[in-house]
Parts: sequence; structure tokens; C-alpha cells
Amino acid sequence: LRLAVLASGRGSNLQAILDAIASRRLHAEVTGVFSDRAAAPALQRARDAGIPAGSLSPRAFDTRAAFDHALFAAVDASAPDLIVCAGYMRLLDAATLAPRIGRVINIHPSLLPAFKGLHTHRQALAAGAAEHGASLHFVTAELDGGPVIAQVRVPVDADDDEARLAARVLAREHPLLIATLRLFADRRIALREDGVHVDGRAL
Ligand code: GRF
Repeated sequence: LRLAVLASGRGSNLQAILDAIASRRLHAEVTGVFSDRAAAPALQRARDAGIPAGSLSPRAFDTRAAFDHALFAAVDASAPDLIVCAGYMRLLDAATLAPRIGRVINIHPSLLPAFKGLHTHRQALAAGAAEHGASLHFVTAELDGGPVIAQVRVPVDADDDEARLAARVLAREHPLLIATLRLFADRRIALREDGVHVDGRAL
């Protein structure tokens, strides 16, 4: 399975992918890491693993469409089977995304459809949620709104603060991501007209 990874920041999910590949828990190859931030630590993690990594500055482009066109030209040149948004903080241009729907996934730190967007841990605490977690989903033009593939649930503790809850969810995101990528590597997953299918069955 050839994976292109889009990342804007820390890159712990990217690192989980690299570690799983290195320890043969995931039969895949990262074809490139692409960012909208030159300073993203994810880029250094990629380079340390000998993986091509680069960034484009959104400020150098007039429109979102122009930026995404350039970004995806680079992504496509690495010939991935699947594009993984792992802490990629920009919306994708709808027209750029359209021909790629079903080949782009995102990890989001909430139990979607609850708490889309930013500051999900803060949102969960403010809502008094008893349960929080993370979701893997196919990316569509709707922010954090595409079909969900898999989720992990994390109970909220009475004395949780944002940082503590975020850390507990993050620790569960990494195995969720790897388990989901294994489904793709084994070709057990597909997005069809009527939703996500695993082993030929609708989720
Ligand atoms: C993760 O919480 C991910 O779910 C969200 O952004 C964060 C990225 O973390 N989309 P990292 O850069 O992978 O460490």
C-alpha cells in the first residue's frame, strides 16, 4: 500500500505509521510527506526516515484551488494508493478532492459527527460529554463530514482537563490509524455509493 501523508504539525500520527512499517505491523510504504507549513515537525520525522518531504506555502497562491492544484500535483507524482490526512489543518478544495473521493482519509479527534472542527477536546469538555474519542473517515468536501470508517471511544474522567483528555485520545488514535491502514493494505475496505464497506459488507 503506497501512502502519501499530509501533515501540518507535530506528526505523531505520521510517526505511528513509520514505526508500524518499520516493525512490519503494516505492509505499506510512505511515498512522501506533504505540508502547508515548512516548520512542521512532521517533515523532519519523514526526512529522518529517509522519506521525501516538502511543503508549499498557501500564501504563495491566490486561491485555495491553486494551492491544492500544486499540492496534489506533488502528491500525485509520488503515485500513492491512499492519501492520509494526519493532522493536516487545511480544508481541501472541493474540485481537487472530487476525483479523489474514496482515496483520501482523515483522522479526527472526536466521535464524529460530534465535535467537528478545531479544539475538539475543549468542545467535548464544555458539552459535558461522558465519552469522547477519535474517528477515521473518508474525506469529502464537508469539513469532518465524510463517511466514518472506524472509531475509538475514550471515557471522559471527572477531573479531565483539555491536555489530559487530548493525551489519552491521542494514545488511542495511533492504533486506530494503523488498524485502519491495515484494512486498506489488505484491500478489505471500499467506499461505495451507499457508504463504507468492509469485507464486502456495509458498515
Ligand atoms: C491529531 O489529534 C489528529 O487527530 C488531528 O490533529 C492531531 C494531529 O496530531 N487531526 P499529530 O500531528 O499526528 O501528532
